[in-house]
Amino acid sequence: MCGIIGYIGEIHATDGGVTGEAADDDTPGSVGEIVHRGLKNLEYRGYDSAGVALVGAASGLTVAKRSGEVGALSVPDVPDATLGVGHTRWSTHGPPTDANAHPHTDCVGDVAVVHNGIVENYEALKRELSDHEFTSETDTEVIPHLIEEELTGVDGDGDADLLAAVRRVEDRLEGSYAICAVREGDDRIVVARRGSPLVLGRGEDAAFVASDVTAFLEHTRDVTYLEDGDVAALSPDGVEIFASGEPVERETETVTWEADAAEKGGYEHYMRKEIHEQPESLRQTLAGRLDVDGGDVDLDVSFPPGFLADLEEIRIVACGTSYYAGRYAAQLFEELAGVRATVEIASEYEFGAGRTPDRTLVVAVTQSGETADTLGAVRRANAAGARTFAVTNTLGSTVTREVDGTAFIRAGPEIGVAATKTFASQVATLAMLAVAVGRDRGALAAADARSVLEDLQGLPGAVQQVLDEEKQVREAAREYRDSEAFFFVGRALGVPVALEGALKLKEISYDHAEGFAAGELKHGPLALVTPDTPVLAVLTDGARADETMNNVTEAQTRGAPALGCVSAGEEFGTLDVSFEVPDVGVVEPLVANVYLQLFAYHVANEKGRSIDKPRNLAKSVTVE
Ligand code: G6P
Repeated sequence: MCGIIGYIGEIHATDGGVTGEAADDDTPGSVGEIVHRGLKNLEYRGYDSAGVALVGAASGLTVAKRSGEVGALSVPDVPDATLGVGHTRWSTHGPPTDANAHPHTDCVGDVAVVHNGIVENYEALKRELSDHEFTSETDTEVIPHLIEEELTGVDGDGDADLLAAVRRVEDRLEGSYAICAVREGDDRIVVARRGSPLVLGRGEDAAFVASDVTAFLEHTRDVTYLEDGDVAALSPDGVEIFASGEPVERETETVTWEADAAEKGGYEHYMRKEIHEQPESLRQTLAGRLDVDGGDVDLDVSFPPGFLADLEEIRIVACGTSYYAGRYAAQLFEELAGVRATVEIASEYEFGAGRTPDRTLVVAVTQSGETADTLGAVRRANAAGARTFAVTNTLGSTVTREVDGTAFIRAGPEIGVAATKTFASQVATLAMLAVAVGRDRGALAAADARSVLEDLQGLPGAVQQVLDEEKQVREAAREYRDSEAFFFVGRALGVPVALEGALKLKEISYDHAEGFAAGELKHGPLALVTPDTPVLAVLTDGARADETMNNVTEAQTRGAPALGCVSAGEEFGTLDVSFEVPDVGVVEPLVANVYLQLFAYHVANEKGRSIDKPRNLAKSVTVE
């Protein structure tokens, strides 16, 4: 997830919107400043590097970029600039260096592009562009070079202008992206969107384009959301939008949020925003990694020859939510990769007797890559001589420097202390790893792999369907908010989801919430069940729904209300509340988890809790 912004206009900002009047002291006075301020507002989308490209009639194209936060970027003074684009990066392809920072340019430095998303076929395109000079390791850099081909005729007709060139290049890109392109001597910003968000801001004599309205809300509240496949040109004459080459009209709406809600994208809390970001973050997690037809995945990780075939055990170490992602994954490793998989709370982990270091893979799951308990476990595994691997969200984090290999979950920055979107992306990444290991070991047939990959492919859409049912969850949260305690149950893949559901609720609502393997209810916890203790159950595919429902019924018999996340097409008539989970097989429990996230959020919100910063907790715990 990265943030992009573009601005065109010869004018300055004032309080009420963009006008031709001179700016106040504290309002931006140049195109560069407007773009720079927009980037600061987008920093929640990434802060690995920042850059701008400014275009002026006399000055031509000026590009400035560097690794580090937006504040570290010094934007050049280009007084005649009439348009500019900017980018703040969350690294996916290539580490956060100056060279990998956007904008990226073509060979001669005439064209500059900023990009959010992933160009899945960039390696193939790069091979085709072998006579071009590349200066970064990013997927993005193929875009300005492809535009160059169209503009100069090296490969294209050479008769294209910037708009036509972007349209043609877009046809060649696979993956999800939002791009802004500018060119020396051209007074337009040309933008395109497919799968990654892009919104236009309409000022009186100016226009904006950005990943999120937050970027320009201080200038204009009139916005137009672009749709997938749209290409638009922002020029001094206004904005033109095209779909399939034909001009189209898109509705302009007025944003009514107040300024402090703006940085949360209009949501009251980062947590709710991050819950809603899951379709996008999951798309990014999966982008370019699924070969559904071939029944394989490309996670860009490698192991020594023969290592996976001889593997005796995968041992996952993690804390908190990451530990529950590990519990989900362990079941997938056993089922899909045919290898014994165990999960250990990182602070409890010791290599242990009876294990063979060179036939053990220790996988550290950590969003931040900085959790001291998890790093301690990795160090103990390394000391024992085991091979170590990290699944993390954070490029350059400590864990990545201490393990033998890493897979990034690409969820983008998560600000709410309670992990939400990163849990989903961790499980999705680990599921891909399980398929990769299973295929490599010959334990997973191509047809079975294909079916798992199809489930994964359906994940972002299924999560969106759940998010569309938020009203139902809010109503349930209102009804049960004052309960004495909450119990979460499931079986198989439903167990880690029940545990995670309970953790979410206790973290942010401060209510007593516990998760159990449903079969264990009757071995103790049932003593706690009363009409004032709702039971929330995972009743989906992959979670042995019928057996779980038997246990739910045991609780109902003692008067407990029951809420269930149920696979589409199934029905458990005695439930007090039934949340429908779309059909996505092995990841259905993960989709059910989105209901539990929303439930926790709304219970806590009803109680006015400090949702993004719960008492006594920290996002990253760097002490043991
Ligand atoms: C802290 C956070 C949790 C997180 C855990 C592990 O306790 O509050 O939300 O799950 O650390 O963090 P990690 O960055 O290693 O995934």
